[in-house]
Amino acid sequence: MQKNVRCFGHIGCFAAGNAECICGGCRTRVAPEVGAHHAGKSPVGEAMMHKNSNANAPAMTSAEFDQARQIYFERCAGCHGVLRKGATGKPLTPDTTLTQGTDYLKAFISNGTPGGMPNFLTSGDMTEQEVDMMARYIQQEPPVHRNGG
Ligand code: HEC
Repeated sequence: MQKNVRCFGHIGCFAAGNAECICGGCRTRVAPEVGAHHAGKSPVGEAMMHKNSNANAPAMTSAEFDQARQIYFERCAGCHGVLRKGATGKPLTPDTTLTQGTDYLKAFISNGTPGGMPNFLTSGDMTEQEVDMMARYIQQEPPVHRNGG
């Protein structure tokens, strides 16, 4: 488990009246003061959270969601389909990804498989943070696709 370094996007924070926050980067529980500290870079304070229709999906900020959606269309959709229903690659829809969970998904995205899944982390194409973000992204409902993504 990562420490509080590289934390971003505190979730369900004290702004919402909660006693503690969960870091969007490493999913560690942190005290509200810590959340305030991390969030301090943003002039508006709390990061906007992506509103997902499935409450079980791991939280992510709107900014992360938009970035992940972009990366997905550029690097994943060709094999997994724009709507994530699978093509060359397997379906990546919440009905399966949510039961697999973030760590399992990160392992695939990081290391790839001999069956054709590229190794995005070990090849140097993605940072650990991006891999984590993508693993959380594919547990969200696929966004409604407008032309051009
Ligand atoms: C070149 C085609 C290709 C690309 C590009 C690709 N994948 Fe895959 N992916 C596959 C294939 C093929 C599998 C099935 C691998 C196997 O069973 O060995 C797979 C499997 C996976 C799995 C495991 C699914 C499961 O149910 O076991 C995940 C998670 C995944 N891909 C995520 C991604 C993400 C996220 C991206 C973009 C960053 C991506 N893939 C890009 C081909 C691709």
